[in-house]
Amino acid sequence: MAYVCQKCGYRSVKWLGRCPSCGAWDSFEEISQEKETQKGSEPQSWLGEEPKPLPRVPSTPLARLPTGFPEVDRLLGGGLIPGAVILFGGEPGVGKSTLLLQIAASLSRDHGPVLYVSGEESAPQVKLRAERLGIGAERLYLFAEQSLPRIAAAVEEVSPLALIVDSLQTVIARADGGEVGGIQQVREAAAEFARLSKLRGMASFLVSHITKGGGFAGPKTVEHIVDVAIYLEGVRETDLRILRSVKNRFGSTHEVAVFRMGERGMEEVQNPSLFFLSRDRAPKPGAAIVPVLEGTRTMLVEVQALVSPTKYGPPQRRCAGLDYNRVLVLLAVIEKYLGVHIGMSDVYLAVAGGFEVREPALDLGIAASVLSSLYNRPLPPDTVVLGEIGLSGEIRPVRKAYERLKEVAKLGFGRAIVPEQAIENDVGLELVPVRDVIQAAEALGLSG
Ligand code: TYD
Ligand code: MG
Repeated sequence: MAYVCQKCGYRSVKWLGRCPSCGAWDSFEEISQEKETQKGSEPQSWLGEEPKPLPRVPSTPLARLPTGFPEVDRLLGGGLIPGAVILFGGEPGVGKSTLLLQIAASLSRDHGPVLYVSGEESAPQVKLRAERLGIGAERLYLFAEQSLPRIAAAVEEVSPLALIVDSLQTVIARADGGEVGGIQQVREAAAEFARLSKLRGMASFLVSHITKGGGFAGPKTVEHIVDVAIYLEGVRETDLRILRSVKNRFGSTHEVAVFRMGERGMEEVQNPSLFFLSRDRAPKPGAAIVPVLEGTRTMLVEVQALVSPTKYGPPQRRCAGLDYNRVLVLLAVIEKYLGVHIGMSDVYLAVAGGFEVREPALDLGIAASVLSSLYNRPLPPDTVVLGEIGLSGEIRPVRKAYERLKEVAKLGFGRAIVPEQAIENDVGLELVPVRDVIQAAEALGLSG
């Protein structure tokens, strides 16, 4: 007999009112006798394979299916792999069901049957959404169901190439498996879908809600079971959505794809590299453009600064989308090495468009935007800045400078202020190498 915390999975031999691990109250549930005795019996076979010497393992190239969304394919590492288990997380209302229904429709149209299981909405409700999205796919099967055995039976019957489970937290793995959406149900369901996927070569998308404050088991509790974990996020007060990979056994992680949630569902944003810049690109005091890396993608972001004399009270330092402590260090560095006085000024910093960037390569952009606002002088037009700043004011190299600068050239910029070590001749840009903040300020026309 054992008791398990439904929030974090902590086990105890006796019932506890409060979980010593995660602090949740009244979260313990008894695990059934049956399940405990099962622990001793032979575990269920995974795929029924035998150990083989390496040379005898067949080398099957991973066939990848295009999802109909090139950006999603890129995020997945080049398309959907049969048998892949993909965790699809996000807060309620962000657009998970919408995007997955669109992907399901496209996969079914181009490649074969897809089973969309909804435990949250009835089939007619899902159909209504499909109609709004202009989706009518013959081989897309809808199934409103929560019971794991019945979903497994439907998989058997439809034999889909892809299964969508919307959501994992509504699946009831077993009648005595604790509360629906609890850790035990969710983990068991995820493990069973993973097994089915591997066995059948069927790709699975497992939707998981992120909820603030908890209440049920979130995506983190099953990340270790899946091959790929992607999260859909909203961008503050916009209709933009960013899909981000945090784990990928078939490709690189920290890739992003940008979407816009429109009247007819989610649309891929075609040129996300330029998306977070203002349309006119006219130079403004206090703005610096930096090529940052999101996964393998270069995105241009605009760092904006406002420096103004403090009217009362202690000087303010505020920033949005940037690392606050890093900003304080950079302000200290430019004060010391450039001899500027901002100790009696308020400094506000933000990344335009609500984007969040935590990359040392942004340092020079932060410093440049502060100086630009301080002197009320815009940076030279069509110029980007790139570089990490060290504590003695030196400009340090950044990773993948060459890739970033290639992209910058492609997007029509003409000049880049870069760390000395970043020099490559054929990027198609005028490069201005700088060794320290003093040289950088000179190159930008911002030295006092
Ligand atoms: P939904 O996909 O249901 O979110 P999730 O599954 O992540 O909870 O989308 C929720 C919101 O999206 C809802 O407020 C309505 C809006 N929406 C659109 O803006 N355009 C559309 O075409 C659709 C179907 C929904
Ligand atoms: Mg939904």
